Amino acid sequence: MAASSKITVTAKLVLRLRDITAPTTNCSHSLIVPSSVTQRSITTAITSQKKKKKQKLAAAGLVKEKRRTRSDKEFDKEAILRYGDNPSHIPVMLAEVLDVFSSTCWRPLHSFVDCTLGAGGHSSAIINAHPELKFFVGMDVDPVAHEKAQARINSALHSDSYSSSPASDLKVYNFLKNFRHIKSAVSKIGEQHLDIGVDGILMDLGMSSMQVDNPQRGFGVLSNGPLDMRMDPQASLQAEDILNSWPSAEVGRILREYGEESNWRTLQNKIVEARLHGGLHSTSDLLDLIKLVSPPMKGGRQGWIKTATRVFQALRIAVNDELNTLKDSLNSCFECLAPGGRLAVISFHSLEDRIVKQTFLDMIKEKASNIDEGENCDNDLTEMRGGVEEKETWIKHTIHGSNGIILTKRPITPSGEEEKLNRRSRSAKLRVIQKH
Ligand SMILES: C[S@@+](CC[C@H](N)C(=O)[O-])C[C@H]1O[C@@H](n2cnc3c(N)ncnc32)[C@H](O)[C@@H]1O
Repeated sequence: MAASSKITVTAKLVLRLRDITAPTTNCSHSLIVPSSVTQRSITTAITSQKKKKKQKLAAAGLVKEKRRTRSDKEFDKEAILRYGDNPSHIPVMLAEVLDVFSSTCWRPLHSFVDCTLGAGGHSSAIINAHPELKFFVGMDVDPVAHEKAQARINSALHSDSYSSSPASDLKVYNFLKNFRHIKSAVSKIGEQHLDIGVDGILMDLGMSSMQVDNPQRGFGVLSNGPLDMRMDPQASLQAEDILNSWPSAEVGRILREYGEESNWRTLQNKIVEARLHGGLHSTSDLLDLIKLVSPPMKGGRQGWIKTATRVFQALRIAVNDELNTLKDSLNSCFECLAPGGRLAVISFHSLEDRIVKQTFLDMIKEKASNIDEGENCDNDLTEMRGGVEEKETWIKHTIHGSNGIILTKRPITPSGEEEKLNRRSRSAKLRVIQKH
């Protein structure tokens, strides 16, 4: 909508709302509506207009169908308490991940790589669920994550249920490494493992709660700290370097491409302008700048929080080179899989999910344009176990290619209950691929 027509719409709304809220008086020009009330009323009116528009589109059958499958798995609060640090850390879509690698419905899991150990929530649950596991490889660039994960994995190994299992004979190898180097990590535990391949690989992307909740790491929008944002504290590039010394056009590019921020040009100019006054050195400095340039009405009264979230996301992606790393690593992970092995990826924003979706299609050698609703769609991954047919009910639609099968034609998203209990899970998308 052009700026001028936006103003006209808002002005009309103000007028209409003034009619509604006007006290009984004859002199309309003397009407004074407190600005907070006016603003709230305008927001409500705009929301209800949007709702009406949605209803009209729905009635005309023009509403886009959601391209996802909401998990119908029951949310297991008890498991979350066992494998998470409620409320500071909760492994996202834990039950769904356990289903993907289930030895009851799929096959025994002898080797597993967790590319993103974090606090070890998923890892310890996988270890507990698979006494047949022989090799476990954990990776993370963050030493804090290793400390937490190691402790949790140790307690999983010493739990009564695990240690009493006659099959348990697990070797755990944890590497303080970027998952970009998964091949070298797997070969370090024995060259043969690269040849044989691993049965299961998990990537749970993004930041851990330990990182977000520590203001000194600079990830949190709502806490003051240094403009750091490195997941790997040994890495050289920090958010502060980008803001204070990257070329102006590059700053604009990351805001636009990695933050998908529509107001990127103004922000770019202000960030570069701030360099004339000593630059930005804390997350509060950056937030103050964002508040200054965020239109008060955009996205509601606290529109700046949404802008800040997008700006922080852009910086974090750039600092950690997240998208390039993800693309390269997905291919390396697929190469590391044994025939029939599975790779599961949980992503948290559309840029990541797009990469996972497209790379999976490239990996199985299938073109996105060839895939329509209904085509290549089935759930024929039924296993026979002891004469009993076991169906993996979480698999709804698949895409078959020459190198593998995408087991989630549409990504799986958390159950409504999980979303309610863990806000961070709301944007999670789980995609799974199986190698031929
Ligand atoms: C969402 S957390 C994982 C949480 C974990 N699944 C759990 O249950 O506790 C993501 C972790 O991945 C790590 N990470 C992100 N990018 C990485 C990369 N390229 N290589 C290795 N670790 C990475 C982060 O440091 C963070 O600890």
